[in-house]
Amino acid sequence: MLSLPTLALGSVILALPLAQAISGLLTDPEQVNGQTFDYVIVGGGLGGLTVANRLSENPDVTVLVLEAGADNRGDPRVYEPGQYSVAFGTELDWNWPSSQGRNIHGGKTLGGSTSINGLAQTRGQKEQYDALATFLGGDDADGRWNWNGMFLAMLKSEGFSAPNDQQQEAGASSNPAYHNTSGPVQVTYPDGIYHGPQQGYFRDVVSTNFSVAAVPDADGGAANTVAFHPNTISWQDSDHRSSSATAYWSPIEDSRSNIAILTSHLATQILMDTSTSPSRASGVQFGTSDGGRWEVTAGKEVIVSAGAIQTPALLQLSGIGDPALLNNLGIEVKVNNTGVGKNFQEQTIDSIGWTPVDGFDAQGTGPSDCISYPSLLALSTSSNVDIAETIASNIGSYAQDAFNNGAVVSVDAANQLFAIQQDLMVNKSVGLVEHFFDTGFPNNGLGIDMWQLLPFSRGTVEITSTDPFTYPTVDPRYFSADVDMQIQIAGARMARKIFQAAPLRTIVSEENAPGYDSVPEDGNGGSDEDWRNWITNGFASVHHPIATCAMMSQELGGVVGSDLKVYGTANLRIVDASVLPIQFSAHLSATLYGIAENAADM
Ligand SMILES: Cc1cc2nc3c(=O)[nH]c(=O)nc-3n(C[C@H](O)[C@H](O)[C@H](O)COP(=O)(O)OP(=O)(O)OC[C@H]3O[C@@H](n4cnc5c(N)ncnc54)[C@H](O)[C@@H]3O)c2cc1C
Ligand SMILES: *[C@@H]1O[C@H](CO)[C@@H](O)[C@H](O)[C@H]1NC(C)=O
Ligand SMILES: *[C@@H]1O[C@H](CO)[C@@H](O)[C@H](O)[C@H]1NC(C)=O
Ligand SMILES: *[C@@H]1O[C@H](CO)[C@@H](O)[C@H](O)[C@H]1NC(C)=O
Ligand SMILES: *[C@@H]1O[C@H](CO)[C@@H](O)[C@H](O)[C@H]1NC(C)=O
Repeated sequence: MLSLPTLALGSVILALPLAQAISGLLTDPEQVNGQTFDYVIVGGGLGGLTVANRLSENPDVTVLVLEAGADNRGDPRVYEPGQYSVAFGTELDWNWPSSQGRNIHGGKTLGGSTSINGLAQTRGQKEQYDALATFLGGDDADGRWNWNGMFLAMLKSEGFSAPNDQQQEAGASSNPAYHNTSGPVQVTYPDGIYHGPQQGYFRDVVSTNFSVAAVPDADGGAANTVAFHPNTISWQDSDHRSSSATAYWSPIEDSRSNIAILTSHLATQILMDTSTSPSRASGVQFGTSDGGRWEVTAGKEVIVSAGAIQTPALLQLSGIGDPALLNNLGIEVKVNNTGVGKNFQEQTIDSIGWTPVDGFDAQGTGPSDCISYPSLLALSTSSNVDIAETIASNIGSYAQDAFNNGAVVSVDAANQLFAIQQDLMVNKSVGLVEHFFDTGFPNNGLGIDMWQLLPFSRGTVEITSTDPFTYPTVDPRYFSADVDMQIQIAGARMARKIFQAAPLRTIVSEENAPGYDSVPEDGNGGSDEDWRNWITNGFASVHHPIATCAMMSQELGGVVGSDLKVYGTANLRIVDASVLPIQFSAHLSATLYGIAENAADM
């Protein structure tokens, strides 16, 4: 689509093309250098590509996406679900170091983390979506930031295919009221779904013996249940991965002349015009690690979708953040926003593994798809402490500790944030841990990958240098709130007890992770002290970083408001995991697609 300004010269009308339309996938920076696009989007991952697709539905607007990684859609490490984890530590992975020697993975490739993630498609609990408006102090005039608004937005992204006969036979079932069949992200159950007894036994044990309700389909906002969950795999394309790249870019790649993506270039600075009030984002500088730098101009808006670690880093590099940090690095403060990089939340995973009995046949290739989300009541069957009481009596000290470590804007803000979280955990019965039943892992056996979903530990993401290619310091402050460890211990013990219960017990011989040598069985699932030691040594990050530019009121330390605009700016928005103010009882992508669809709608 060309813009054709018309010049009237006497009776002669001349149509002059302003510039060649710039579209498609580009790798040469000179093709966009110095050009103007209505929307310049930083990051071609989940948030960025969703918004880019929806904005460019209007042929009159022009869109440029800047992506640090390359286009690897044709690489089996990306498109083959069975190759999950093979991309870790390669050029496809940011692989940020974080505290306590734990690394956090994130996709550095077109599609972002959706190109390397675990493909589980899960939605959170109704009340968790309703809480989004609470974090905004009720500022939700359009009714987007609650269950109803987010449910509609999540449906918009979903292209669901119900389980066929063989998948139903293996245990999958769905409720059509919870799904859309015609959205871009392909969602279904794997053809290689396991037909062995293990997933059904897991579901039966947790529902019969551990008070977690079994439901046919958890996608209608009832997350604190056990169910078969679908995967983001393409039923139209050989069960390959459905990523934000294949869902939102591939279908328009050749047909839209108003959108371009420049890959393999890092956005190095958002250019801010501080002569107006509020300040305006006028464009974006980008470059290569050898020092090459180029610029593009944003006619309307800059949208940052670089993920929960690189987004706050880019804002800080651009003079948007806490003056205390920026002044130390000699960066001119353009927008004083003390919440940038604070409120960081990451989860912690441990896998409990058992060796199958001789001759056991899993009968399938996966991916695994049965997940349980026990609430406080269910988890209490396996805790030696009163979790609700532990939360109630320690919130004040967690808030003070988070403030002392620069992870929240004030003690008062932290107290308010934690009270909302406490209400969800204690009064609203949301799932406190995830139990992901895993055929083939760990140790090629049967396992439960287990993580504390809703940490009170709050951390930080901070740049330490003005070089945009230097990674920021990533400090989730894992387990700094001890109740996070108490819940992790209860979740691990509960996983052991699940395997100890018939009929699951009849298909396994012994625990191999941690094993009774490491965490001796004492007749009640092992002691707190032994579990604590094992967890402290062996836990990993879940790779679900969020909340570093949270959508909250400014009083609470929010960075963006209900319109996703950065406070103190006229036209700078954030659309990615950094705006989610709190973890949900779910994997992140379904919720983030909903946020991005909401954003594009605005
Ligand atoms: C290993 C792993 C497993 C996961 N498993 C699941 C799962 O099973 N189910 C689920 O629902 N979710 C899962 N997730 C989470 C989910 O994929 C992410 O939360 C989601 O993709 C985040 O979306 P985003 O838009 O914030 O960032 P991303 O999708 O990561 O996109 C950010 C993009 O920005 C680019 N970028 C960063 N900085 C710059 C810059 N300065 N300039 C240009 N480009 C830049 C990055 O290269 C990347 O492409 C998993 C994540 C990981 C890492
Ligand atoms: C399904 O998705 C399409 C495409 O995004 C959208 O137009 C439609 O409104 C969605 N339907 C529902 C029920 O959400
Ligand atoms: C930045 O904003 C905070 C919170 O609004 C305020 O307390 C602080 O004084 C401001 N700092 C500067 C340098 O303006
Ligand atoms: C939980 O509910 C009780 C009464 O039902 C209420 O008093 C309490 O304030 C609630 N807890 C939180 C954290 O909101
Ligand atoms: C599980 O529940 C069943 C049915 O109530 C009961 O027979 C069985 O003993 C329970 N198993 C365990 C380990 O609690």
